[in-house]
Amino acid sequence: MSAVQIDRAAVIGAGVMGAAIAGHLAGAGIRCLLLDVVPHQLLPDEERKGLTISHSAVRNRLAEQGKQRLVRMNPAPLYDARFIHRIETGNVEDDWERLSEMDWIIEAVVERLDVKQQLLSRLEQVWKPGTIVSSNTSGVSIQEMSKSCSPSFRQHFMGTHFFNPPRYMKLLEIIPGDMTDSSLVQDMKQFCEKRLGKGVVIAKDTPNFIANRIGTYGLMMTVQEMVSHGYTIEEVDAVTGPALGRPKSATFRTLDLVGLDTFLHVAGNVRDRALDESERRAFDIPELLQKMVDQGWLGEKSGSGFYQKVKGASGSVI
Ligand code: NAI
Repeated sequence: MSAVQIDRAAVIGAGVMGAAIAGHLAGAGIRCLLLDVVPHQLLPDEERKGLTISHSAVRNRLAEQGKQRLVRMNPAPLYDARFIHRIETGNVEDDWERLSEMDWIIEAVVERLDVKQQLLSRLEQVWKPGTIVSSNTSGVSIQEMSKSCSPSFRQHFMGTHFFNPPRYMKLLEIIPGDMTDSSLVQDMKQFCEKRLGKGVVIAKDTPNFIANRIGTYGLMMTVQEMVSHGYTIEEVDAVTGPALGRPKSATFRTLDLVGLDTFLHVAGNVRDRALDESERRAFDIPELLQKMVDQGWLGEKSGSGFYQKVKGASGSVI
């Protein structure tokens, strides 16, 4: 048995990863509160129904949409849509105080250092000593993110980096910060292995940790290669997917799944903290990716990415 006892968890940010992590925890028997921001605008059908931003259905819409996406997902060893009743949805304005009731709080908001820092400072105000707090960041420094927080908060704070999609991907990186309690790190490792079915690797707090440093570099190189040599998306995916025994996780399919905006943030994390010019250049954003993000083609989450809008296109899409 693991030394940490987690019955109630909260996930802040109900996007691609936050909702999927909540689904995974629910499958492992953990009750989960899934929170997102209050939407700024009403949708046309909400307006037709006479709803306003004060209605809870509108205020919780983003988290509810995250939960609804789980309904359509195929079952996996630690995921079954029958368990999503364990997930309660809410928003970070109305439900913030409830975070003090949690055993574990996971932040899974947009991959921006400033947003994550503000979130942690706010979180510390309701944090109950002893509660574990972790970040699902792909590569922002754990130390940097929590540097304004108190030592006792930082002892309980670490990175828990789930991979996409968490119901299939076994790997979980745990990243201690400079002040994280080392026995808590070991307890969380045991908990995530035994209860969540993960294969845990303890990573150092270096840019993009371990797996994403390698993975991001590979994806960048493949995109640049395709653009400069005129390969098609399908050609690249055929070689980097089925041929390598990864039918669903070829290069461009992965980028669509991850979200192109998130991928640019992740690549930018390494570039901005590069040790030298050649490392910086290796993580320069390919123009094609930047153009797609500028046009709102973010991959699966926006309904348009390499496969949705430019299916079958070659380097000529730029
Ligand atoms: P996403 O763009 O799908 O979702 C981010 C969510 O955070 C949105 O729903 C947004 O409304 C919400 N949000 C933004 N600011 C917020 C705030 N202050 N409070 C509450 N909610 C807020 O992003 P995604 O892909 O889910 O990424 C979340 C985190 O997980 C990032 O740190 C990312 O690097 C990491 N990650 C992403 C992976 C991926 O494949 N997409 C894989 C592993 C980690």
